[in-house]
Amino acid sequence: MTKVNLEDLVSLCKRRGFIYQGSELYGGLSGTWDWGPLGLSLKRNLTNLWWQKFVEEPDNMYGIESSILMNAKIWQASGHESTFHDPVIEDVKTKQHYRLDHLLADNKVDPKGMSLEDMANKIKELKIKSPDGNELGNPSRAGQMFKTNVGSVEDESSLTYLRPETAQGMFVNFRNIVDSYYPDIPFGIAQVGRNFRNEISPRDFIFRSREFEIMELEYFIDPSNWEADFDNLRLKMREWFEKTLGLSKENIKEVEIDKSDRAHYSDRTIDFNYKFPGREDELAGLAYRSDFDLSNHQKHSGKNLEYAEKGSNRKFLPHVIEPTFGLERHVLAVLTEYYKEDEINGEKRTYLALPANLAPVKVAVFPLLKNKPELVKYAHDVYGTLKQKVGLAMWDDNGNIGKRYRRQDEIGTPYCVTVDFQSLEDKTVTLRNRDTTEQKRMTVNEVLAELGKS
Ligand code: GAP
Repeated sequence: MTKVNLEDLVSLCKRRGFIYQGSELYGGLSGTWDWGPLGLSLKRNLTNLWWQKFVEEPDNMYGIESSILMNAKIWQASGHESTFHDPVIEDVKTKQHYRLDHLLADNKVDPKGMSLEDMANKIKELKIKSPDGNELGNPSRAGQMFKTNVGSVEDESSLTYLRPETAQGMFVNFRNIVDSYYPDIPFGIAQVGRNFRNEISPRDFIFRSREFEIMELEYFIDPSNWEADFDNLRLKMREWFEKTLGLSKENIKEVEIDKSDRAHYSDRTIDFNYKFPGREDELAGLAYRSDFDLSNHQKHSGKNLEYAEKGSNRKFLPHVIEPTFGLERHVLAVLTEYYKEDEINGEKRTYLALPANLAPVKVAVFPLLKNKPELVKYAHDVYGTLKQKVGLAMWDDNGNIGKRYRRQDEIGTPYCVTVDFQSLEDKTVTLRNRDTTEQKRMTVNEVLAELGKS
């Protein structure tokens, strides 16, 4: 596997129109990113594959889309209002706040399981300074939820938050799904959606941002045998990483999270860490949320959320197992995994060896020359046919064919089709394979058959 550093990925993403800094024209807004056409296409391919595997293939999954703005009482019941905080410390000179745990980790101290006071003491003991070289002050906790007001009056009664997780949308719709569909337990509710967290130190490109998407499902189970359900979902997650996405086994590590480091709602958590450029860190997680959420919503809303088992008098609050997947981190993992460099005829080549189902562009079509109307017309016909049949296709008539190949290689297009003078005579074109760079002459129907195989 080619080792890639983060700067190379950031530069490729900007140069080729995958990802741009948010609000760049005005100097940017830290922790936000804008998605260009290719990045968006890659993101959509990832969510479509996820939806297919986790929602459409099983028979017991219900996909929803809940509101980003929710009643503030939901965040009180879920425990986010009182516990969703980051440990921070202030640079006494610049007044800038830094994540305490990140400062310790940067100084080779593992902050796992440390209290706020332990972390601050360690900072003092090791005489750690702020990244600007200044003294650090007292530690505190900074709320991660973005506040906003609903309606024209800005006071406590209209206060709510931009959602920091999609999960609560599934919990507050549990009753609706049961009443509409009468599902047997176990069943799941899933959604893909945007989340907002006021991260103190957004960093590492799209790895930690303030606005990001999560693909997530809440799996409602009978608590008697939760370990087996937990393990089945763990295996399914591995299947997703290794088989569906083709990530290498050695790049994915399962990490059992200690009680002291688990989220407030979890009785067991496994993180799936990926070897991102320069850091191994969380790509996705699996948590056993027990009946923490349903029982709190039942208590705070005053509504009965018990599930009535069919064919018996038993009523109970189902427990929940939650597989959760950060979409931007998936994009980063996929770019890291498939970034390759090699040499062709003595020249360095950079390419993304993306599988066809992830590649933003499925095929590119080139007329050999752009000043020959007959050639361009036939190339356009070929382009139109391919576009209709295989999804996103790209037209490129800029520069020599070698340069066009390099551009498509860099964005991961699996195949390029060149239309030349022979095409006008015998209706054959050249199909060039990105990974092998092999070129073959064939008819457009044969091209379609070849693309259908990948
Ligand atoms: N409902 C559970 C939940 O939200 P989480 O671990 O806080 O769990 C889920 O977040 C996933 O979202 C993580 O596994 C990670 O991939 C991604 N994620 C978390 N914070 C992020 C951030 N600031 N920027 C980008 N992705 C993030």
